[in-house]
Amino acid sequence: MNKIPFLDLKAQYQTIRAEVLPALEAVCESTGFAQGPATKVFEQEFAAYCGVKHCVTLNTGTSALHVAMLCLGIGPGDEVIMPAETFIATAWGASYVGAKPVFVDIDPVRRTLDPKKVEAAITRRTKAIIPVHLYGMPADMDAILAVANKHGIPVVEDAAQSQGARYKGRRVGPFGVMTCTSFYPGKNLGAYGEGGALLTSSDEYAAHARRLRDHGQSQRYCHDEVGFNYRMDGFQGAVLSIKLKHLDAWNAARAAHARRYNELLQGLPVTLPSFPADSESVWHLYVIECDNRDAIREKLSAAGVDTGLHYPVPLHLQKVYAWLGHRKGDFPVSEKLADRGLSLPMFAELTDEQVQAVAAAVRAAVRAG
Ligand SMILES: Cc1ncc(COP(=O)(O)O)c(C=O)c1O
Repeated sequence: MNKIPFLDLKAQYQTIRAEVLPALEAVCESTGFAQGPATKVFEQEFAAYCGVKHCVTLNTGTSALHVAMLCLGIGPGDEVIMPAETFIATAWGASYVGAKPVFVDIDPVRRTLDPKKVEAAITRRTKAIIPVHLYGMPADMDAILAVANKHGIPVVEDAAQSQGARYKGRRVGPFGVMTCTSFYPGKNLGAYGEGGALLTSSDEYAAHARRLRDHGQSQRYCHDEVGFNYRMDGFQGAVLSIKLKHLDAWNAARAAHARRYNELLQGLPVTLPSFPADSESVWHLYVIECDNRDAIREKLSAAGVDTGLHYPVPLHLQKVYAWLGHRKGDFPVSEKLADRGLSLPMFAELTDEQVQAVAAAVRAAVRAG
C-alpha cells in the first residue's frame, strides 16, 4: 500500500480540472481580478445555499471574524465567549478589536461549546458568543441560542470547518446574527488561495461588512471609518462556484468514510467520534481520541499513514493568552481532546481500500500500545 496522505487536494483537482481551467481563463479574459463578477455570482449562490440573505466574501475567515466583531461594535473592555478548544483564529476577531476572549469548555460528545457552561461565563460586558462547528459538527445551537437570547447577547457562528453541515435539518449559517466561514484550501469548500465570507440576513450588517472590506468606503473615495482591504479575488469566486456544485456529494463521501472508520475501529480502547441524531457533520476532520496518542501517531507515520493534530494546545494555554491567567485543569474536556485527539486521513476521494488500510494500521498501532 502506498503512503496515505492526510488530505489530497490534487485528487480533487483532477476531478474538476476540466471545469476549473476554463473558469480561470474567463476571469483573465474579463479582467475581473479584484472581486469581480465571478465573486458576485458566488456570493449569491452561497447565500442561497446557506439559507441567508447575504454573503459578503472576504480575503480570509479570520477577516470575517474581525469584521463581525466590528459590525457588533465590540471593543476594549468587552468580552466574547468562545470554546477553549478550537483553531486560534476564532479568538483573533475579539483580540483585533481589543476585546477579551472568554473561554468555555466543550461538550465531550459533540466537541463543541458546552451550552451548560456558557451562562456562568456571561457578565455585563459579554457582547457576543461564538460557537464553533468544530471538525464539521454543528454546535448545539438551540441550547446555545436559548442562553444567548435569555441574556440578549448576539451569537456569531464560526462555520469555518462546516460548510453544508446541518443542525436539525437546516444548514449552518442562519442560526447566528452573523456567520463566519473560511475558504482556506483545505476546508470542505476550499479556494485555490485564501478566502472567507461573512453570512447574514441583516441588511445593515451586510452593508457595513461590505464597506469595511473595501477601505471603509461609503461612496467611492469617501471614508467614514477606518476600513481594510479584505476583498476576495475573482479567481476564488470562479473556483468556489464550481466547487459549491460538488460540495454536497463530497460531504456525503466524507460522511460515508466516517461511518466506515467508526465501524472498522469498533472495540478498540479509543474514543470514536459520535453521530448525534439531530445533526449531520460534514466531517472536515475525523478525530479519534486515544492514550499514547503521540506514540500511536509515530507508528502510523512509520506505516505510511499521515495524521494531524487539531489542536494540541487549547486556547487558554496559549502564550498569547497567558495574561488571562488560566492554568492547566481549567477546561478539562478541552485539554483531554487536545492531549488525546488524533485526526485520521479524511477527504472525499479516499477509497474504501485506503480507509480499510488506515483502520488496520490504527488497530495495529493501538494494540502495540
Ligand atoms: C475554526 C476556524 N475558525 C477560523 C478560521 C480562520 O480561517 P482563515 O484561515 O481563512 O483565516 C479557521 C481556519 O483556518 C478555522 O478552522
